[in-house]
Amino acid sequence: MNLRIFDTLEELTRAAERTIRQANPTSVALSGGSTPKPLYESLGKSLPENVTWVLVDERYVPHDDPQSNAAMIERTLFANGIPERWLPFRTELHDPALTARELEREWHDLGLTNLDLVILGCGDDGHTASLFPGTPVLEVEDRIASEVFVPRLDQWRVTLTKPVIRAAKLRIVLATGASKAPILREVREGVQHPIAQATSGFETWWFVDRAAAG
Ligand code: 6PG
Repeated sequence: MNLRIFDTLEELTRAAERTIRQANPTSVALSGGSTPKPLYESLGKSLPENVTWVLVDERYVPHDDPQSNAAMIERTLFANGIPERWLPFRTELHDPALTARELEREWHDLGLTNLDLVILGCGDDGHTASLFPGTPVLEVEDRIASEVFVPRLDQWRVTLTKPVIRAAKLRIVLATGASKAPILREVREGVQHPIAQATSGFETWWFVDRAAAG
């Protein structure tokens, strides 16, 4: 595990932004959640050009719902305009399975193969993307995207699959706050939480603050 520990969220954000700009990616998958917001705001001030942006996962809610990951990204990273090549999950289809297939269709239409970069978060339960512990999506190996019902949240999600995340050139995981410390410790000890299944053995840089580092 390539672990970088920062004293402040500002330093973490600056370092993650530098890493992304230096990687000069042509395709980037973006997680939702709260941790990447400052990074997206900063990166969005001068959005890298000629990039295909893909959403990592989505809560199955309408676009104008406060939980929508796509809307959060459009308000922050894309505050100055939505780029031409942006693949959100189309929850307006009102059918999670169809939405996952539609993302796969758009993925193939754009000629996407492996991603250059995936920006991930990590849940207190060890999930990443919408790959939640104990859900069948963890077994999916032959799809780009999949729907998954998450009983713990009583919510449908749509997500890129584990093989897509593993096949990317580089993974960046952002984790802040003391609630992430136990999972980070267990992942370092080799526990196969979903975040470990999606990243272990593949080049992954963890950007964490002192509280998450434990
Ligand atoms: C989502 C995410 C999810 C997220 C983690 C961490 O839709 O919630 O894509 O995988 O990255 O839950 O979330 P926080 O950054 O809010 O802690």
